[in-house]
Amino acid sequence: MKQHHIESSIGNSKILVGESIDNLHEYLPKKKTAIITDTNLARIYGHKFPEGVPVLEIGTGEDVKTLQTVSELLDKLVELEFDRSSFILAIGGGIVCDIAGFVASIYMRGIEFGFVSTTLLSQVDASVGGKNGVNFQGFKNMVGVFGLPNFVICDMGMLSTLPQDDLQCGYAEIIKHGLIASPELFSFIENNLEKAINLDSKTIERFVYDSVLIKSEIVNKDARENGDRRKLNFGHTFGHAVEKVCKLPHGKAVAIGMVVACKLSIQRGLLSPAIAERLKELLLKMGLPVTINIDPEKAIAAMVHDKKRSGDVINFVLLRSIGDAVVQQISIDELKAIIYDMCLSTEQER
Ligand SMILES: NC(=O)c1ccc[n+]([C@@H]2O[C@H](COP(=O)([O-])OP(=O)(O)OC[C@H]3O[C@@H](n4cnc5c(N)ncnc54)[C@H](O)[C@@H]3O)[C@@H](O)[C@H]2O)c1
Ligand SMILES: [Zn+2]
Repeated sequence: MKQHHIESSIGNSKILVGESIDNLHEYLPKKKTAIITDTNLARIYGHKFPEGVPVLEIGTGEDVKTLQTVSELLDKLVELEFDRSSFILAIGGGIVCDIAGFVASIYMRGIEFGFVSTTLLSQVDASVGGKNGVNFQGFKNMVGVFGLPNFVICDMGMLSTLPQDDLQCGYAEIIKHGLIASPELFSFIENNLEKAINLDSKTIERFVYDSVLIKSEIVNKDARENGDRRKLNFGHTFGHAVEKVCKLPHGKAVAIGMVVACKLSIQRGLLSPAIAERLKELLLKMGLPVTINIDPEKAIAAMVHDKKRSGDVINFVLLRSIGDAVVQQISIDELKAIIYDMCLSTEQER
């Protein structure tokens, strides 16, 4: 087990990579506690939840990530007579943790909380950065707060029950972390693919730990997202558009977004085509897509509505080499050309 301590302007946290849910009692404070989880986790892991702690169960999927769910959970906390010294434990993926972190952060102006992160995505991404919140009026994560959990347990064993699509979402973010910040991690992924696919716990532990270090270093420098933190959006500007327009899972959309970002980087003379090829090869071996047939106009429209846009240009994270990302402004026309090109080559491959 490896621990990473975060001390930042928005609070302190510790991330326990490779810790087991069986040792949860060591981390729970001696406080009145409630568990927030979803129906899948309660069904599969309910027998491992600490005894005597009330379990507040929510449904699954983005549709439950609403203020309505928050309101229902707040009602239950009032019913349980929670006070300022009570504690909330989230056991679940990004959805459960985002909601539970938000509920804990607003109940009586904020009570302490902790996470057991049960998806690869939540371990490598949602566990760090302190963003908690819900969707609003169709916009993702529109309402929320910054606040850190006291601890995050990342139990590799729990990943064995995670559906393949959800594992792939995590892999896409891990590859992203390697690309923007660590040639070592990127090579380690390339060289240990087989082990990763077989969920070798030491290999996944390294993926998660390195990702946690990379994300927390970036976030620490820029907790409120004005500068360096934008690099974490690598693959996400186009990725979000693909996710929205094509209804693809987040990780698959990010994979395509990273390929587009590499194409733009090559076009601008920043990146060698050989690196883009390495990325494509890795994504394909992980079962992630590298092309898509999307209506370029719809994709652009979706991106123009994205919050990272200012004026007729879009802030795009590009790559100079593995581990060296840079934010540049891309004109809509430049972007259109790349997307048309991608759709054309997808057509030709069919
Ligand atoms: N706060 C952040 O910084 C941050 C970062 C990235 C993503 N997110 C958010 O996270 C959400 C996505 O999170 P996610 O991908 O973890 O999805 P999720 O929480 O919906 O979990 C995916 C599915 O897997 C199931 N599941 C979870 N763990 C399992 C396990 N161990 N075994 C079997 N099934 C399991 C869940 O019940 C769910 O059906 C999005 O809403 C996104 O906005 C937040
Ligand atoms: Zn993402």
